[in-house]
Amino acid sequence: MEEKRTPAPAGKELVKMTGIMKEFPGVKALDDVRFNLYSGEVLALLGENGAGKSTLMKILSGVYQRDDGEILLFGKPVKEWDANKAKDAGVAIIHQELNMCTHLSVAENIFLGRELVKKERLDNDRMNEETREILNKLNIDIDPKAQVSDLAISKQQMVEIAKALSQNARVLIMDEPTSALTSKEIDDLFKIIHQLKADGIGIVYISHRLEELQHIVDRVIIMRDGHFITEMPYDINKMDEIIANMVGHEIKEKFPHVACKKGKKILEVKNLNAGPLVRNVNLELYEGEIVGIAGLMGAGRTETTRAIFGIDPKESGQIFIDGNEVIIHSPADSIRAGLVLAPEDRKKDGLCTRLSISDNIALPNLDMLSSGPLGTVNRKKEKEMVDQSVQSLKIKLPNAQVDAGSLSGGNQQKIVVAKWLARESRVVIFDEPTRGIDVAAKVEIYNLMNQLKQSGIGVMFVSSEMPEVLGMSDRILVMCDGRITGEFMAGEATQDQILTKATQFEKK
Ligand SMILES: Nc1ncnc2c1ncn2[C@@H]1O[C@H](COP(=O)(O)OP(=O)(O)OP(=O)(O)O)[C@@H](O)[C@H]1O
Ligand SMILES: [Mg+2]
Repeated sequence: MEEKRTPAPAGKELVKMTGIMKEFPGVKALDDVRFNLYSGEVLALLGENGAGKSTLMKILSGVYQRDDGEILLFGKPVKEWDANKAKDAGVAIIHQELNMCTHLSVAENIFLGRELVKKERLDNDRMNEETREILNKLNIDIDPKAQVSDLAISKQQMVEIAKALSQNARVLIMDEPTSALTSKEIDDLFKIIHQLKADGIGIVYISHRLEELQHIVDRVIIMRDGHFITEMPYDINKMDEIIANMVGHEIKEKFPHVACKKGKKILEVKNLNAGPLVRNVNLELYEGEIVGIAGLMGAGRTETTRAIFGIDPKESGQIFIDGNEVIIHSPADSIRAGLVLAPEDRKKDGLCTRLSISDNIALPNLDMLSSGPLGTVNRKKEKEMVDQSVQSLKIKLPNAQVDAGSLSGGNQQKIVVAKWLARESRVVIFDEPTRGIDVAAKVEIYNLMNQLKQSGIGVMFVSSEMPEVLGMSDRILVMCDGRITGEFMAGEATQDQILTKATQFEKK
């Protein structure tokens, strides 16, 4: 990320939206919102979870219809509008949640709906060839013929980006494009963004990783609760002001670390082996501490949490909780033993998106909510549990009966955490607890981790965000290639030291 920033050309106004209104059942998602975008600029659209960013961009790209308001695209009013018309007009969007036909190949996905034909047949050779060119330009090594379901999430995300780029858009919307990328891929993406900018394309960039804005962003538009709040040129020295506008108040401490006395050993993992990415892992977790696990993508951090929690089979190893060995063959064993996990991929592993919020929170806790010979669920108790979780995490929702999948990304993540709050667990493991979560909600999650720690629960978390690992851990473990390669006390570790350990086995 060392390359120089190209100054944004004084561009034409590509998009102008005014008075945009959008209501969903029970939620006013957008209320009199305005927005504009110039050619050759990177505009950060910022706001808390549920502010309406994705909804506004879905309206611009024709995915949703607006209830009211005007859109001017390249100076012309937009009347009848849908996703195909938007695409044809030069508006491309990379959606926050991956939108891929996973049973098709990379090339088939990229050319979906605009397949190349030769003599009334699909011209697969040319589509594969053109896909290869696009991928080469992006510096990504993916076989155009590979089936998308066989690719890692980060690679799927790169395909999604390639797909948008291949449409030769003049307006490119990126909704959380980096949330699943490795740092190397993020660097590559930023290089591409600089190129596109120089070509005069207008780019809307949505991200909760505020520290990355400095590398690409020229201007910011801030939304809150469905309203336009303000607009200003990006300036790294104004981050506090930007954040205050996003959340409506100042955030004094982004990493509210609290010191606790280290108590008894709660968790011990001995010589754990499970596949190539969990090799002889030994770790301990004490009362009163938060242990952060750092490492690059693919280091085996998620695999380690999965093996401990009993999702993946263990080849060997022992787990002790409060000094007693526990046998964990399944997540159910683990939950019974008092060890719970908030997984990384919330949509796939963390939530039943088609069930209500209430059901999602109640589901792993039915043992506590049901009674009698038939195991009838006590609805009153269920409601109390749900209300309390929703309140303590300040989850923004119309009511607890709506589908979990209809919430904004960050609020979904909070539900994943919320369902474990009701249980009296001994150990809580979080895998990327703040991915896609806004700056204020991050602080809420950190406070929650502190609360758990102060109540004597062992807290461990995996994170790819270095400031978070450094800011919230009491002790830091570093993984590389399935092994634990480093251990630091918080306050003694630097980013460089951690990175050195995280790349220990990589050849220069
Ligand atoms: N399809 C839908 N049905 C019902 N409500 C929706 C739908 N899509 C969005 N909403 C609601 O509209 C509001 C704005 O959501 P939106 O997804 O635009 O927020 P966001 O700013 O993108 O948040 P995040 O940063 O979490 O992605 C939220 O209250 C959300 O629950
Ligand atoms: Mg969104």
